[in-house]
Amino acid sequence: MDFQLTEEQEMIQATARDFARSEIVPVAAAHDESGEFPLDTIRKMGELGLMGIEVPDEYGGAGLDTIGYVLAMIEISAADAAHGTIMSVNNSLFCNGILKYGSEEQKQKYVREIATGEQIGAYALTEPQSGSDASRMRSRAVLSDDGSHYVINARKSWITSGPVARYMVLFAATDPDAGGRGITAFLVDSEREGLSLGKTEPKMGIRASATCEVELNDYRCPVEDRLGKEGEGFKIAMSVLDAGRIGIAAQAVGIAQAAYEASLEYARDRKAFGKEIGSFQMIQAKIADMKCRLEAARLLTLRAAWTKMQASQTGARFTAEGSMAKLVASEAAMWIAYQAVQIHGGMGYSKEMPVERYFRDAKITEIYEGTSEIQRMVIARSETGLR
Ligand code: CAA
Repeated sequence: MDFQLTEEQEMIQATARDFARSEIVPVAAAHDESGEFPLDTIRKMGELGLMGIEVPDEYGGAGLDTIGYVLAMIEISAADAAHGTIMSVNNSLFCNGILKYGSEEQKQKYVREIATGEQIGAYALTEPQSGSDASRMRSRAVLSDDGSHYVINARKSWITSGPVARYMVLFAATDPDAGGRGITAFLVDSEREGLSLGKTEPKMGIRASATCEVELNDYRCPVEDRLGKEGEGFKIAMSVLDAGRIGIAAQAVGIAQAAYEASLEYARDRKAFGKEIGSFQMIQAKIADMKCRLEAARLLTLRAAWTKMQASQTGARFTAEGSMAKLVASEAAMWIAYQAVQIHGGMGYSKEMPVERYFRDAKITEIYEGTSEIQRMVIARSETGLR
């Protein structure tokens, strides 16, 4: 076992950290307040290779490994989780699926613009009636008589980056009676006729990442924009989420790290009863427990990334490792952010300090890309072999 990072991993970590501190930290609170999508910083992140970290150079990406992706995601999310969300969708949910299941033409056409940050990508799985029970979707795609295109009618909800995304990976049933085995994945273009945006969600946290409903009404999707085979869509959705959950685990580690570091600084500076509050045992216990949970989450996340890298050689699944990392890291982020607010006292409840934002942002990591309850189900199924 070797905990040493490679030169390339250290380089992407340092690049992301420098950018996050100089360009994202100064604007994070204002974007959280206004809810404005941070297009300027996202474009710059694209220029640095942060929007397609694992995408090979030939398709416009940085060509690095999953550990590099995790390290960069931690740094960006420590500065602002909303930037982390946008970055994770472009990297894990959009580019990753096309690299794994797409044709050469699809990789050339769709991956480059998203990996370079010129365009934003989205992933459209969830529907108003199906969230955790993802295979029970109502969206339908029907192949035209001449076999040239599919006609898609769909209503998708909670689409991260939906309001600004040019392209989306979208799932619809081509054989509704076949359940999960009747779902197919498509690449859709928001500038094409038949796709419209619905209501924007007014969110508690990650407010600068835009989220909305997306509707497709008789949208004509050329057959060459089908991703994978007919009926393969649910497996594509699930295996893309396996990788996505590692990204969300990294986002949670970033939020937890920011909350922990703010608390450490405050505990050293703030005085009460004639002493720094960090010298009181009740605060010391919190600091020790926060640090342990933070480092445990970081290790589990890096191990999941490493397992995914090994799996890319063998084709093995890394489902349980991704779920364990996401479960532990998201619950650590929520707990650490909660303690951070408490350590800051009244100032923790004020928008003048970033910890109240960390607290609001942490919550989503326990919900999206599979709730904590779904992660427990996935892990227990994998351990017991029972369903
Ligand atoms: N990789 C490959 N194949 C997989 C798989 C995986 N990780 N997981 C399941 N499958 C396959 C199974 O092998 C099975 O194949 P067969 O039909 O050949 O037997 C098929 O898929 C169906 O599997 P299950 O019977 O296990 O499916 P299920 O209906 O019981 O559901 C579930 C499993 C784990 C609950 C799944 O529905 C799930 O993960 N739900 C959560 C959905 C989710 O995470 N949504 C997040 C939305 S995206 C988002 O949040 C993005 C964002 O905003 C940023």
